[in-house]
Amino acid sequence: MPVNEELRVLKTLSYDATHYSLFVQAGSIGALTRPGHFAMLQAGDGLRPYLRRAFSIADVTTVAGVPALEFVVKVVGVGTAALAHFAEGTPLPVLGPLGVPFPIDDLGRDDRVALVAGGIGLAPLVLLSRVLAARGVTAELFYGGRNEKDVLKRADFERFLGAHRCAYATDDGSLGRKGLVTELLQRELSAGKTYKRLYACGPVPLFRALARIADEADLETSFALESEMACGFGVCLGCVVPARDGRFATVCKEGPCLPHTAIDWSRV
Ligand SMILES: Cc1cc2nc3c(=O)[nH]c(=O)nc-3n(C[C@H](O)[C@H](O)[C@H](O)COP(=O)(O)OP(=O)(O)OC[C@H]3O[C@@H](n4cnc5c(N)ncnc54)[C@H](O)[C@@H]3O)c2cc1C
Ligand code: FES
Repeated sequence: MPVNEELRVLKTLSYDATHYSLFVQAGSIGALTRPGHFAMLQAGDGLRPYLRRAFSIADVTTVAGVPALEFVVKVVGVGTAALAHFAEGTPLPVLGPLGVPFPIDDLGRDDRVALVAGGIGLAPLVLLSRVLAARGVTAELFYGGRNEKDVLKRADFERFLGAHRCAYATDDGSLGRKGLVTELLQRELSAGKTYKRLYACGPVPLFRALARIADEADLETSFALESEMACGFGVCLGCVVPARDGRFATVCKEGPCLPHTAIDWSRV
C-alpha cells in the first residue's frame, strides 16, 4: 500500500551538469520498497510543474546514519531541473512505493541473472543489485551509455556484484566496449551462457532490441518501463502502452516491471 508523506531532503550529489542523486528521508516508504518500485515526487512548488514526477526508487540506503531513499535523476525539463536545487531540510511530498516491482522471490544461490541498463535506466537496477547480492544470486551487469559520463554509480554496482561481473559499453568508446550494450549480452549468449531472467531498464529502442534477443534465446524478462505519468496509480490512463493481447496496459499499475512478452513492441 503506497504512502503519501513529506520527506526531508538529506543531500544532493551532483555527477555532472545533467545527472544527480537526490537523497531524502526513507520515512515509512523505505521499509515497503522492493527493487523496481517507483515514487511520485512533487518537483516544485506544486504550481510549476503542477503534476508530480515519477522516479525509480534507486536505493534504500543511509546518509550519515539516517535511513534514506535515493533517486538518480537526469535533467530533461522543469521538474527534474527544480529537484536538483532543493536544499537540505526541504520537505518533499513523496507518494510511494508504487507499481509492480521486479520478480525476484524465486531466485536463490544457484541462479544467474542478467541486468541490462541504458543511460538513466540504471536507476532501478541499483537496489536490485544490492538485494540480489545479499541473497547470493549471481548477477551480471551490462550497462551502456553515450559516453563515460552517462554510466553512473559504477562503484556501487561493482561493490554489490563484483567488478568482474560489470561490463560497460559506450557509443564513443570512452568506457568499456565501443558499441551497443546489447552486443555485450549477445557475446555472452553466443558463448553459451544462460540466465534465469533478464532485468532491464532504458530507452524504448533498447527494450525493442532486448525483446528480440530474449525471444531468440528464449529468455524470461522483466523490463522496468517508463511512460509519461500524471497520477501514478491507475486513474488517469495517461501512461498506457499497447499490450500484446490487444489491450492497453497501465505502466504505473500493471507495471512498471513487466515481461517483454506483455508488450506489443511494434506499436510502442
Ligand atoms: C516509472 C518511472 C520511473 C522513472 N524513473 C526515473 C529515474 O529514476 N530517473 C530519471 O531521471 N527519470 C525517471 N523517469 C522519467 C521522469 O519521470 C521524467 O524524466 C520526468 O517526469 C520529466 O519531468 P520534467 O518536468 O523534468 O520534464 P518535462 O518538462 O515534463 O518534459 C521534458 C521532456 O521529457 C519528456 N518526458 C517527460 N516524462 C518522460 C518520461 N516519463 N519518459 C520519457 N520522456 C519523458 C517530455 O516528453 C519532454 O520532451 C521515470 C519515469 C517513470 C514513468
Ligand atoms: S499514470 Fe495515471 S493511470 Fe498510469
